Order: sequence, then structure tokens, then C-alpha cells
Amino acid sequence: MDHLEQIVNEARAAFAGISDPDALEQAKARFLGKNGQISELLKNLGKLPPEEKKTAGAAINQAKQAVEEALNSRREAIREAALAARLAEEALDVTLPGRSELRGGLHPVTRTLERIESLFASIGFTAADGPEIEEDFFNFTALNTPEDHPARSMHDTFYLNNPDGSLAEKVLLRTHTSPIQARYMQAHVAKYGQLERMPEIRIIAPGRVYRVDSDATHSPMFHQVEGLWVGENVSFADLKGVIADFLKRFFETDDLNVRFRPSFFPFTEPSAEIDVAFMSGALKGRWLEIAGCGMVHPNVLRHAGIDPEKYTGFAFGFGPDRLTMLRYGVNDLRLFFEGDLRFLRQFA
Ligand code: FA5
Ligand code: MG
Repeated sequence: MDHLEQIVNEARAAFAGISDPDALEQAKARFLGKNGQISELLKNLGKLPPEEKKTAGAAINQAKQAVEEALNSRREAIREAALAARLAEEALDVTLPGRSELRGGLHPVTRTLERIESLFASIGFTAADGPEIEEDFFNFTALNTPEDHPARSMHDTFYLNNPDGSLAEKVLLRTHTSPIQARYMQAHVAKYGQLERMPEIRIIAPGRVYRVDSDATHSPMFHQVEGLWVGENVSFADLKGVIADFLKRFFETDDLNVRFRPSFFPFTEPSAEIDVAFMSGALKGRWLEIAGCGMVHPNVLRHAGIDPEKYTGFAFGFGPDRLTMLRYGVNDLRLFFEGDLRFLRQFA
């Protein structure tokens, strides 16, 4: 009997140390297999005298049962451990915060462009546009800037190649939004030119422009917003009124100095640059040129087929990148175009 107890204890100890299902089945063979220790004992049962057979047989069967029980409970334990491990691996913590969507925002200059458009829309200006790749004619000649005019040298830009590599005839990246004036007036005359009284032109035209420029207040690619108002009796006083009113509404403050500084553009006469300075805040007292403007030159009207004796107009070209600098107190305009999210997120 001691021998049987020893076999059972040995089996229990062997099973307990196993956590791999295949190894467990192999260990089982050592006790219950064909030549296992229990099977050997049963085989030898026949050799015992008949009076011992009964009790010995019962004892061996009990031991066999004990080994089977130990085996089954180990099998069960291994299965449960495997399940627990799998559940732990696939666990889902429903209390974790969700993954939120990334939120985009408008670029600060885009905000300015939309703001300018809507403020001018409120006083009857409609939006117009033109191509960024422009003909020399509209960028210069139609604007009273013939080929040998010295003002062209201030508007150095990129000239385009033909597909074969040769320089395209007079096609360039526009240097200002003023060619939109010329295009719009020409189209307007084509539509209404034969009428006794031509309807007024009142447009606002934003877009990208290009020059060989780069410093804290100049970028090689920048934006302009062109404005044009042509009709009967449109005067310089109207120009000043429209601009002063716009600037107050744009900056939402009266804390602003505005000056019209006499200047020259081939396509306006008289001409002025518009400078502004805040009287307080981060950019206090710093004058910054924000636009060029003037009365549309008679030659420009004539180029478009409009009679300068009958109609007059004013035009202006804002630098919305500079307006954005002033509005948000940014001291280097190139920051707007570097694409640094740490900078841009502040406006989102
Ligand atoms: C012009 O481009 C004229 N076409 C404006 C105009 C329109 C005059 C209609 C009369 C009638 P100017 O070169 O000054 O003018 O540019 C206008 C504005 O664009 C400047 O006042 C400035 O605010 C902005 N600007 C000019 N160059 C740059 C640059 N490199 N980077 C950022 N802004 C610029
Ligand atoms: Mg200027």
C-alpha cells in the first residue's frame, strides 16, 4: 500500500509541475499508459493468491482513480490559465477616453481674406479673380506700364518656359492683383459698352502674387486684394472714405493712425501708399505700409475701352499678409508661410 501511495504522490507532483498540455499527456503515460506504473501493477494482479487479489485490486483501482483525478484537475487548471491569459491579452478598457478627431483650422491669412471680402461685400463689392500665371500685357502694358517703363524693374518675377525649355513669350507669375482690374474692365465693356450708361464696376479681388522679395515684411509669394470702383463722379474723397471705414471695421478699433503717403504707380494718378500704425499694443507706433491706391489713370480706362471724360474710378491693392501681422501682432510675415504647426495652431 505504501508503494501505491508513493505512485499517487509522484503522479500529483509530476502533474503539478507541468503547464504545457502536451507535456502533461506525456507525463500521463508514465503512470496510466500501456507500460505505466499503474498498468504494470494491474498486469501483475493475476500472480497474487486469490485471497489477496480482491483487496489488492480495489487498492490499485483507487490509486488509478486518484491519478486520473489529479490528471483531470491539472488539465482543467491548464485550460483555465490559457483562457485567462487570452482574456487578459484581449482586454478592452472601456473607461479609456476615445480617440478624438483632429480639428483643422483656417490659415490666419485665409481668415483675413475672407474678412476683407465680407466687409467689402457689405458695401456692394462683388468678388472677382484672375489667373496667377498672367500675360505680360495684363500685368504691365494694359496698366500703362509699357515694355521700357522703369517701374517694371520693381516687379521682377518668374518668367515661364515653354515645354521645350525656351522662354515663353511674355508669360509670367503675376506681380500684383492689378491685372484683374484690366481684365475685368475689358470684359465689362464687352458686355455693357454699347449702353448709354455703363453700370458701375465695384469689385474686390484676392489672390496670390510673386516677386523677388524676402525679409521680415516681404515674402517671395504673398497675397494682395485688389479693389476697383469705376462709375460717374467717383472721387479721391470716396476712396479715402471707403478705406478709412474699412480699416476701422477690419481692426475693430479707433486706436489706429492712417496716412495716405503720396506715391507713384503708372496705372493711377494721383497715387498714394496707405500706412497704418497702432497707438498701443505689441506693434505700437510702428508704421507699416499696407496698400497702394489711387485714381485709375485715364490711359488704363482707355486701354479697356472706357471713356475717361465720362467715367472715373479709384483702385487699391491691399497686402493682406501685412494686415494679418498687424491684427495678430506678428512681427515677421514669413512665419505665415513656413507651415510650422506650433505657430499656426495659435490661430485655429
Ligand atoms: C502694388 O502692387 C499695386 N498694384 C497696388 C495698387 C493697386 C496701387 C491699385 C494702385 C491701385 P505695392 O507694390 O505697393 O503696390 O504692393 C501693395 C501692397 O502689397 C503693399 O503695400 C504691401 O502691403 C504688400 N506687399 C508688397 N510686396 C510684398 C511682399 N513681398 N510681401 C508681402 N506683402 C507685400
Ligand atoms: Mg508700395
